[in-house]
Amino acid sequence: MKIKINGTEREVNVSPETPLLWVIREELKMTGTKFGCGMGLCGACTVHQNGVAIRSCITPVSSVVGMEITTIEGIGDEQNPHTLQQAWQDLNVPQCGYCQSGQLMSASALLAQNPNPSDSDIVNAMSGNICRCGTYPRIKKAIKVAAENLQASVVEFSPTSQVTVQNPVQSSQAPAQGSYGPTQGPDAPAQGPDALAQR
Ligand code: FES
Ligand code: FES
Repeated sequence: MKIKINGTEREVNVSPETPLLWVIREELKMTGTKFGCGMGLCGACTVHQNGVAIRSCITPVSSVVGMEITTIEGIGDEQNPHTLQQAWQDLNVPQCGYCQSGQLMSASALLAQNPNPSDSDIVNAMSGNICRCGTYPRIKKAIKVAAENLQASVVEFSPTSQVTVQNPVQSSQAPAQGSYGPTQGPDAPAQGPDALAQR
């Protein structure tokens, strides 16, 4: 079957029920998208399906035929980083880094739908992405910085001094939806929407 990923049609020879994550990583060798829980609970495998954040570990590849799939490799690179990726770098968001591509994919879907998110908008949109290292405060701050930078980059003054604000992010339409998994171990850092909201 053929799937369209990061703007390119790719032929994959797998059974229809193969999880999209396996196809992305094992067949197409795009390893930016990570395997965490394999159950739709952690967000490490988040990609966009027609602009909406989905969990690729629980998405059969046959269900995305005819749709636009975007992975972390498709939103920016070192030479041309997405505004969020630049903010992630500027604020040194990652710790171990394992969860961060999923975080960025959920964040980019959020900003595409809502270019000026409130704190609670951010918490709600990111609540399905778990970070074992507890980088939630920096993630939240980086999303706000990126949103400010996006707003600043598209504010245009017309000859009549009217201000026009446009959303320049085209690839996503909705925030991630997913369960928020449990924190494991007594010494685990504070996690989840509450931890994000507190900071
Ligand atoms: S690996 Fe897909 S949600 Fe955890
Ligand atoms: S940075 Fe380590 S799990 Fe998030």
